[in-house]
Amino acid sequence: MASSVIREILKQASRPGMISLAGGIPAPETFPMDILEEVFLKIIKRWGSSAFQYDLTEGFVPLREAAVPYLSRYSVEASTEEIFVSSGSQGLLDSLGKILISPGDIVAVESPTYLGAIQAFNPYGPRYVEMESDENGAIPESLEEVLIKNSPKFVYMVPTFQNPTGRTIPIERRKAIADIVIRYNALLIEDDPYAALRYQGKDVPSIKSMAPDHVLYATTLSKVFAPGLRVGLFVPPSGELGNWLVKAKQGTDLHTSTLSQAMAAVYLEGGYLEKRLPLICNFYHPRLNALLEAMDEYFPPDWNWSRPEGGMFLWAEGPDRTNIFELYKKALSCNVAFVPGEYFYANSENSRQAMRLNFTNADPDTLQHAVKTLASLIVN
Ligand SMILES: Cc1ncc(COP(=O)(O)O)c(C=O)c1O
Repeated sequence: MASSVIREILKQASRPGMISLAGGIPAPETFPMDILEEVFLKIIKRWGSSAFQYDLTEGFVPLREAAVPYLSRYSVEASTEEIFVSSGSQGLLDSLGKILISPGDIVAVESPTYLGAIQAFNPYGPRYVEMESDENGAIPESLEEVLIKNSPKFVYMVPTFQNPTGRTIPIERRKAIADIVIRYNALLIEDDPYAALRYQGKDVPSIKSMAPDHVLYATTLSKVFAPGLRVGLFVPPSGELGNWLVKAKQGTDLHTSTLSQAMAAVYLEGGYLEKRLPLICNFYHPRLNALLEAMDEYFPPDWNWSRPEGGMFLWAEGPDRTNIFELYKKALSCNVAFVPGEYFYANSENSRQAMRLNFTNADPDTLQHAVKTLASLIVN
């Protein structure tokens, strides 16, 4: 288990005076600090000591109940019993590795993909095959080819505002992907932390809604409440997978913190999230706009970058002659940090000269300054 390179990068990025577009964390200004006292009082009044007691591995029932209408907003129709709680989505990714991956098994991922998923799966010894992607995310024909040639144990995707690219798979492509996973009886993990962070454009239905028996849908409250709570939600296909994931979790942490789940339950059912979400989106939208405007103004024409309508990341690819690590080092010496693209590829020989830029943790002027600095390093 190699130590996380990204932690090293984030350590550099947190040096005093550094402008970091490297992290992937929500802005603390979006946390609902103003309502927490009220939320705590409600918890104590309603559940008393049981909010501090051991609880079911499947999850705190009031949270699972409150999650029914919440998930439905993102086109995931599930009953209380079909919804499970994990310790963040990351906890689920580890459980999936634990029960599904034996050494040498094949896992299909996007190219590039979420680094944390690779880190969660790696200790279980998988081999990866990468599906080809373009500006609309994973390409269905490539998924089909991978399923035919490699018979992966499962397919892992982040279809909406993907980490690291910010790309969203459009509806027609989602339908094609759903058809393919049904046709080849494959299991797809749809990791969806960012759908609620849409700043413009129209929602796209989940792949889960198109192939419910073949998709495990996962989301998290990390981006819409607070990541420190460590509360994730997931809906497996009907069958044994949910039970196996519960067994895996029993051995890991028995259950996710009851208090965190009680907070999440009140946040969802008390209408707090509904009020908060537009504030969060209004906070991030100008940051995304500022980043895109600065890229348009300063970045050289032989670079390409994504134009996300939400989420937390933008992905920029340079021409082949770019040396992204050289650029990374120069940027650090000018107090600007980003994450080099290579880390997001499961098989590094497929990696591009690219950078992931996070826009949630710097204000518009700072983002503009950072992009101008990066562009001047590229050109000179
Ligand atoms: C695609 C993706 N999946 C999972 C996670 C983990 O989130 P959580 O805080 O719920 O563990 C993240 C966090 O950045 C993510 O980007």
